[in-house]
Amino acid sequence: MSNEDLKLKVAKEAVKLVKDGMVIGLGTGSTAALFIRELGNRIQEEELTVFGIPTSFEAKMLAMQYGIPLVTLDEYDVDIAFDGADEVEKKTLFLIKGGGGCHTQEKIVDYNANKFVVLVDESKLVKKLGEKFPIPVEVIPSAYRVVMRALSEMGGEAVIRLGERKRGPVITDNGNMIIDVFMKVDDAVELEKEINNIPGVVENGIFTKVDKVLVGTKKGVKTLKK
Ligand code: A5P
Repeated sequence: MSNEDLKLKVAKEAVKLVKDGMVIGLGTGSTAALFIRELGNRIQEEELTVFGIPTSFEAKMLAMQYGIPLVTLDEYDVDIAFDGADEVEKKTLFLIKGGGGCHTQEKIVDYNANKFVVLVDESKLVKKLGEKFPIPVEVIPSAYRVVMRALSEMGGEAVIRLGERKRGPVITDNGNMIIDVFMKVDDAVELEKEINNIPGVVENGIFTKVDKVLVGTKKGVKTLKK
């Protein structure tokens, strides 16, 4: 069974948590994309009244494609947000997100939801955050050099994220740059705050407020709670 199959299993399980009348935070990435498709199917089949608040341009486009009516945080609070992750620390359920460069809007929606549910396949579970994945940091472009210096002084190896079919830096949905920081994460709660304290940083990809993680494994979908 491939990781893609496991992601689909998780998406199908997650969509069962949606109830008529809810406002749903729509995450970003390949796992969240499967969830958005499954949610669209449920809305059509069961004629549900459900609204979505997207966490990125990608999530917005998918929601429109699958017929999910969209609203904004200006008007509504979020009942449940469903989103993927790049790493999940098994013991604490802390996350690294932002592999797709969308963690700022993701954090705004996910942290402000009444419940935040994370959807991953088992390859995302780690003992310690930062094992495999750098911490993405969204930065105001004029501040990139001084932010990189501050991150290096904190012991990280800071690298500008470059585009693939575009020369130069990746530009986020918010018009900013991403600095990926390779560093050991000893105290995720402190580090999340400390990075955000650097002038010029918009948001970093450490997420420490999570309610539940659904993990797709070969033996079925497991639920991890604190
Ligand atoms: C987007 O910025 C990320 O936070 C994604 O949620 C994360 O990279 C997980 O993506 P996949 O589900 O594609 O692995």
